Amino acid sequence: MSTAALPETPAAPLTTIRDIGQHEGQSIQLRGWLYNLRASGKLLFPIFRDGSGTIQGIVPKAAVPPEVFETLKNLTLESSVTVTGKVRADTRAPSGYELDVENIHVTQRVPDDQPFPITLKEHGPDFLMERRHLWMRTPRQSSILRIRATVMRAAQEFFDTQDFIRTDPPILTPAACEGTSELFEMKYFDEGNAYLTQSGQLYIEATALALGKVYSFGPTFRAEKSKTRRHLTEFWMIEPEVAYAGLDDLMLLAENFLAHIVNRVLDTHRADLKTITGSEEKAARLEKIQAPFPRLTYDEAHKMLEDAHSKGLIEHPHTYGDDFGAPDETYISNQFDRPVMVHRYPAEVKAFYMQPDPEDPTKALCVDVLAPEGYGEIIGGSQRIDSYDLLRQRILDHNLPLESFEWYLDLRKYGSVPHSGFGMGIERCVAWICGLEHVRETIPFARTLNRIYP
Ligand code: 4AD
Ligand code: MG
Repeated sequence: MSTAALPETPAAPLTTIRDIGQHEGQSIQLRGWLYNLRASGKLLFPIFRDGSGTIQGIVPKAAVPPEVFETLKNLTLESSVTVTGKVRADTRAPSGYELDVENIHVTQRVPDDQPFPITLKEHGPDFLMERRHLWMRTPRQSSILRIRATVMRAAQEFFDTQDFIRTDPPILTPAACEGTSELFEMKYFDEGNAYLTQSGQLYIEATALALGKVYSFGPTFRAEKSKTRRHLTEFWMIEPEVAYAGLDDLMLLAENFLAHIVNRVLDTHRADLKTITGSEEKAARLEKIQAPFPRLTYDEAHKMLEDAHSKGLIEHPHTYGDDFGAPDETYISNQFDRPVMVHRYPAEVKAFYMQPDPEDPTKALCVDVLAPEGYGEIIGGSQRIDSYDLLRQRILDHNLPLESFEWYLDLRKYGSVPHSGFGMGIERCVAWICGLEHVRETIPFARTLNRIYP
C-alpha cells in the first residue's frame, strides 16, 4: 500500500464539494476519495467524492505536470486523495461545477489486486448488504443517510420548539409494551428475564404526567419473524406523549409533525432526492404534504376496501374486524396525495393500553398514519386508558404479568388524566420520503431477521 509523495502546490483553501460554489474561479483543496475515473485519450475525467457530494474533475494531459497525470491515470477507485484544482461553473454538471485539477496527493492507494468490490454495475441486495460498510460510500446511499440525519433533526426540532421535554426511557425493560411475541429476551442477573424495549411509551406516560409534554427518541427492538420490506429488528422511534390530550389533539400533532419534517427535507435535500430517485418527481410529490391530512375511520376504510374489491381493484376482500394488510394499506393510501389518518380501529386488534371510544367501546381511540405511495403505516398512536380498573382488567385480559405493571397502574391512581401519544419509526418515514424499496437502506447498519453482519 504505497502512498505517493508529490510536490506541494501553493496552499489553496480547503473546502467541501457542498460549498464549492463559494469558490468559483479560485483554486481550492478537497479531501476525499476517487469515486470514478474515465479516460479519453489525453483527457482524464475523475469523479471525486468527499462525503458532502461528488464533483467531476477535468485533467488534460498538457495542463498538469506529467507525474500528476500519471498518478491519476493509474489511480484505483476509492483511493483516498487530496485534490487541488480550480473551480469552474458548468451548467451541465449535476452540482453546477467542475474542477480543473492542478495537483493530487494520494493518502492511500487501493491496491490493484484488491480493487474496491462495489462497482457501477448492478449488484444484488445480499452482495451489497454484506458490504454495507463500503456500499454506504456510493452517492445514492450517502444521500439517503444525509436525509435520515435531517429527518431525525427535524423531528426533534419540532418537539423542542413546542416546549416538549425530551425524556429518555430505559432500553432494558421488565415487560412487553407492544405484545409479547416480538420480544428480545435476556437474563438479567438475579432479577429474572429482561427484554429490549419495543417502545418507550409506557415510561413516557410517566414522564408526561410529571412534565406535561414530553418525547422520547431512541432505538427500539422487535424480534420480528417477518421478512418484509417494512420491518427491521432494531429501529429508531420518536414518541411524543401529552397529558390532557385526546385523539383529535394527537391527529393535529401528527399531521403538523410530518409536514414539518417533509418541509425541512425539501429545504436542503432536493439534490439528494434527485440522486436517490433519478428525477424531480419525488420533490414535487413531497410539496403536497401539507396539513390537514385526510381522516378516515376504520369503518370508512373498510367500506372503501369493500367497494374496491367489488370493482376488482384489489385481490382479497378485507374481513371486517381484522387489521389491514399491506395491500389494503397500499390501496387506501393510493386514494390520497398526502398521508391518511385511519382512526378508531377495533380494540381487539390493537394494544392493551388504548382508550375505548365512548361512542362505541368495541373501537379504540387510536390512529395509524399511512404514508402515500404504498409505504404503509409510519405512525401509530392512541389515547391511553386513564381508568385504573379498566387498565388493570386489560392487563389481565392480555395475560400480561400484573406485578411488572404495578408502577404503570400507579399512574392511574395518582392524578390520572386523559393523555395521548404516538410513535413514528424513522426508517419507515425515510423510506417513504426517499422513495425506497426497502427500509434496510435507511439506516447505516440494518438489523433484520437474517442479518446481523457487518
Ligand atoms: O405502531 P407501533 O407498534 O406503536 C408503538 O410502539 C406505540 N407504543 C407508539 C406510541 O404510541 N408511543 O410502532 C410505531 C411505529 C410504526 O408506525 C412504525 O413506523 C414503526 O414504529 N415500526 C417499525 N419500523 C421498522 N421496523 C419495525 N419492525 C417496526 N415496528 C414498528
Ligand atoms: Mg402500529
